[in-house]
Amino acid sequence: MSFSNKVVLVTGASSGIGAATAILFAKEGANVAIVGRNQTKLTKISEECEKHGKMPLVINADVSKDEEAENIIKQTVEKYGRLDVLVNSAGISKFGSILDGKIVPVYDEVMNTNLRAIINLTTLSAPYLVESKGNVVNISSTGAELVPKVPQFIPYCVSKAALEHFTRGAALELSSSGVRVNVVRPGPVRTDMIENSGFPGTWDTFKAGTALDRVSEPMEIAELVLFLASEKAKGITGSVFTSDNGYLLKN
Ligand SMILES: NC(=O)c1ccc[n+]([C@@H]2O[C@H](COP(=O)([O-])OP(=O)(O)OC[C@H]3O[C@@H](n4cnc5c(N)ncnc54)[C@H](OP(=O)(O)O)[C@@H]3O)[C@@H](O)[C@H]2O)c1
Repeated sequence: MSFSNKVVLVTGASSGIGAATAILFAKEGANVAIVGRNQTKLTKISEECEKHGKMPLVINADVSKDEEAENIIKQTVEKYGRLDVLVNSAGISKFGSILDGKIVPVYDEVMNTNLRAIINLTTLSAPYLVESKGNVVNISSTGAELVPKVPQFIPYCVSKAALEHFTRGAALELSSSGVRVNVVRPGPVRTDMIENSGFPGTWDTFKAGTALDRVSEPMEIAELVLFLASEKAKGITGSVFTSDNGYLLKN
């Protein structure tokens, strides 16, 4: 699946699923733009991309801030002259429930990153994606499908359910322009997410909840993203692809 001469923009590329995705696209010959806020991690992933392919464009930006989102698209198009694939992997999980009184501020923060930023970046990318007949891959979560049994997870699950619905709407609106929009929906994947979200458990907690008794590695998810972004998936739009080790079967 060669992506030579294609330009791929990956948010959340400083860590986990986004980082693996950026490295995989670089291996496949793409010009990659990587976005995150942690400069140390971005530099490390940039070096990995260069080792396997070309040096990426590194953009240190907060996707939830409108001016920074505009700058992400501007810098990418200025550097590479086009945009073929947008992968929205940047995401956060914060905890807040109705009865602990934290749900409203947590909802705002989580929705701004996990949903509003994606709607904004899709809108800003649309003219370039229409020109290249490109596509978007959004990273959701099994949390989109599950009833949030842990109340503190409500904002996260709401953001991912809404992201899947946005994806279907965007896929329909952009279909007449030849642009595809899809979702990859992972179950537990070994990344920095537990550490970044302050989740009290470990990956073993999630492993026990899967039918296959395993947690995925980020590259497994990246392979699915790459497939959906490729010509092989030219007939796929508005679809959700779950890769969860059977987590939804058991929860
Ligand atoms: N790991 C799992 O088990 C799992 C399961 C289902 C779904 N997911 C989803 O997969 C996606 C990637 O998560 P991950 O597991 O790879 O977690 P991770 O290792 O914590 O990575 C999250 C990434 O998002 C970036 N990010 C967060 N907020 C940002 C912001 N405001 N602006 C720019 N970048 C931001 C982080 O970059 P900086 O820290 O550099 O800002 C980091 O690169 C998320 O959407 C998550 O919801 C993960």
